[in-house]
Amino acid sequence: MRISVIGCGYLGAVHAACMAKLGHEVVGIDVDERKIFELSSARAPFYEPGLEELLRDVQETGRLSFTTDMSAAAGSDVHFICVGTPQKKGENGADMTYVDAATMGLLPYLAAGDVVVGKSTVPVGTAARLAKLVQDQEPTAHLVWNPEFLREGHAVSDTLQPDRFVYGVEDGSEDHPAITVLDDVYATPLASGTPRLITDHPTAELVKAAANSFLATKISFINAMAEVCEAAGADVTRLADAIGMDDRIGRKFLNAGIGFGGGCLPKDIRAFMARAGELGADQALTFLREVDAINMRRRTRVVELTRELCEGTLLGKRITVLGAAFKPESDDVRDSPALSIAAQLQLQGAVVTVTDPKALPNAAKRFPELHFEPELHDAISRADALLVLTEWQQYRSLDPYALVSRVNSPRILDGRNVLDPGKWRAAGWTYRGLGRA
Ligand code: UGA
Repeated sequence: MRISVIGCGYLGAVHAACMAKLGHEVVGIDVDERKIFELSSARAPFYEPGLEELLRDVQETGRLSFTTDMSAAAGSDVHFICVGTPQKKGENGADMTYVDAATMGLLPYLAAGDVVVGKSTVPVGTAARLAKLVQDQEPTAHLVWNPEFLREGHAVSDTLQPDRFVYGVEDGSEDHPAITVLDDVYATPLASGTPRLITDHPTAELVKAAANSFLATKISFINAMAEVCEAAGADVTRLADAIGMDDRIGRKFLNAGIGFGGGCLPKDIRAFMARAGELGADQALTFLREVDAINMRRRTRVVELTRELCEGTLLGKRITVLGAAFKPESDDVRDSPALSIAAQLQLQGAVVTVTDPKALPNAAKRFPELHFEPELHDAISRADALLVLTEWQQYRSLDPYALVSRVNSPRILDGRNVLDPGKWRAAGWTYRGLGRA
């Protein structure tokens, strides 16, 4: 099939490459010339495992191209809208500027029978509004809401083999004409057994908001338990192991630590609360305010713990922060708890050095006042305390015996509870985890 993908960020670039991998002829469109230049040269404009290999692989087939020119969407049968919906400045709601601009820009190029597919995370009600614009322009075209559930760091496999597809169509009916078109797009994963659910527009939009809210709630739940464990002298990691063995609860997303960040969970729960307020259902989501508050409290708690670890004062202490990305296997620093903690420590008088295997260029753009050191061993050298804030494999596998002579004081704060406290203590370190006695 001929497909256009509008928006080539973390979602769209991966989606375009994966659709070409599935055998379709794809054009990726974005207003950012630098991104288009990189992608056209088969280079990923951000770090995502497997993406660059995939870009090279499909570009050789000639099925994938990139442009800044929206008119390239003409002639495609299916148009995916993959632009961002960041948090509005100074407000909780989602900024719909890019979704609206992408849709308006696409309208003149729609032809009879085209299917416009929304993948961006949007406030419920958006699909109905955009569907009207599409049908006013081209009465035989349809708009489907097909939320995306990919995780950064696993984006390629999540796109090629997702857990499920959700198609939200105007009337929610199983024989809506756009369904067969989307089934053709996803023929390969559907043939290998990926389930698909047909819903109406608002349900499809809400599936995404609900899924991310549930994940955020799960993380804040275990972080709330971490607070109680700290007060009671218990161990939240063992608690998570034990409750996770109940398969109604499950162990996934029960890792207590410095909390969730990134370009999705934090802004999505806020946008969901804002939208529920507009709909008169704000009471239903007041718990998400608490989820958000628990999450933000983790960051303050780590600053306090670091102060305790440094014998009551941060002034002039050399603190090395291991990890800047919001999670491992990503260079994304949007709302990264690691960076926000690093900045708070610096404000409180510590001399902070941040290292990360991939995210330093992005981190330096966001927090130019911090000191960044790409070499792990230089970053660690002469530190008064190490803070593991993003659990990259190279930090998980650090050797406490080899490091002990490189630092000023052997103190480590394990912000993701990924180190073995016994081993670090045996090597002479003062170890602090989160929610662990
Ligand atoms: C999230 C969802 O997991 C995806 O399903 C969704 O498609 C995506 O948002 C989106 O809306 O586009 P992502 O932001 O890539 O994906 O990252 P997650 O793996 O969900 O992690 C989010 C944050 O939670 C990270 O900062 C991570 O460190 C933290 N986390 C995760 C914990 O603190 N504890 C856990 O147990 C799990």
